Amino acid sequence: MRVQVATIGSSPSGLMLGQLLNQAGIDNVILEQRSKAHVLSRIRAGVLEQGTVELLERAGVAGRLHAEGLVHDGFDICVSGTRRRVDLASRGGVVVYGQTEVTRDLMEAREAAGAVTVYEAGEVSLEGFDGDTPSVRYRKDGATHQVRCDFIAGCDGFHGVSRKSVPDAAITSFERVYPFGWLGVLSETPPVSDELIYVHSPRGFALCSMRSPTLSRYYIQCTLAENVNEWPDERFWHELRTRLDPDTAAVLQTGPSIEKSIAPLRSFVAEPMRFGRLFLAGDAAHIVPPTGAKGLNLAASDIHYLSDALIEFHATGRSGALESYSRRALRRVWLAERFSWWMTHLLHHFPDNGPFGMKMQTAELEYLFSSSSAQASLAENYVGLPY
Ligand code: APR
Ligand code: PHB
Repeated sequence: MRVQVATIGSSPSGLMLGQLLNQAGIDNVILEQRSKAHVLSRIRAGVLEQGTVELLERAGVAGRLHAEGLVHDGFDICVSGTRRRVDLASRGGVVVYGQTEVTRDLMEAREAAGAVTVYEAGEVSLEGFDGDTPSVRYRKDGATHQVRCDFIAGCDGFHGVSRKSVPDAAITSFERVYPFGWLGVLSETPPVSDELIYVHSPRGFALCSMRSPTLSRYYIQCTLAENVNEWPDERFWHELRTRLDPDTAAVLQTGPSIEKSIAPLRSFVAEPMRFGRLFLAGDAAHIVPPTGAKGLNLAASDIHYLSDALIEFHATGRSGALESYSRRALRRVWLAERFSWWMTHLLHHFPDNGPFGMKMQTAELEYLFSSSSAQASLAENYVGLPY
């Protein structure tokens, strides 16, 4: 097979890129190691910045998002049993719409456009991206296949093969692993509140989120030693209630969980994001802790820069935007890393923080709620910094 762009990963970033390239007449294939059903079964965050919504509009896949997505003009932070609101209305708000639904909409558009995705592509390997004739090999149905291309887009997440194909000497990683995880539950119950509630409590962080008026997503901070099998629903709901303020706890509607999982928290950036004809995007290049829901939004901003660069090259033959991709994407990546790191520190219980660290956290929260400038800064970052 010969295509202009070979993309690794039927991820939000890979699918967004594919759709924008299809519209520009740039032929591309997506190689995905898992099945379509598996990709659509993953539950991830669901808060979209305005820039992400605009990118999905540009890709022609925002119909259902506008019909079913919930516009949120604020969220609450609950500290010491008191809920306080952070206003987002003056900055246009955010849209609550599950990442799984974004993925589904993009997959449908891709199928309608007749573009090829190879699911269950095994042993994907990248070759020749430091020269002019890159290619990707994979195994499927007992045979080895080769895709020759002009460019490779590595959209295969943190554990993918793309970043690992780069020689160690060419890449620098920056990482912080947090000493806790999030235990998440999805349940077919109405959300406890119309807006999200981020909770700081002596027993640790909690988050009340949602996917729709009938589908709730809740999280509690947990230790890294925790086993999800030791968290029957009753234990989860009880722990969540103890972290909420009494009024919210009293109206929380509980029900059987339909998904329950533990995710570790990590900040990670690999620099640069371009190696010859290989471009990394999304979690393949960077990870944020989920506090603030920047993961999907950063994948979208990477694709904004990368699709512009590929389309410009295709239309004019100029490679300036391809050459500046890494610098432009990384600038925004680091700003979102800073915000996610800050929000994680603001709201979680850090077991090794000590008395001074705890006082600093209290002072940070105190400052946030006594300063309209501090709240404006939080809101500015939460709705998304400009591209
Ligand atoms: N070969 C082919 N496909 C692969 C390989 C491989 N070796 N390794 C991983 N993949 C696929 C995975 O199966 C997955 O479908 O790449 C995809 C990567 O998906 P994400 O990590 O979701 O991609 P990304 O666009 O970077 O994510 C952006 O979505 O999933 C969240 O945490 C993520 O918030 C972030 C956002
Ligand atoms: C979610 O709904 O899964 C979610 C929302 C906000 C976050 C993180 C996760 O900050």
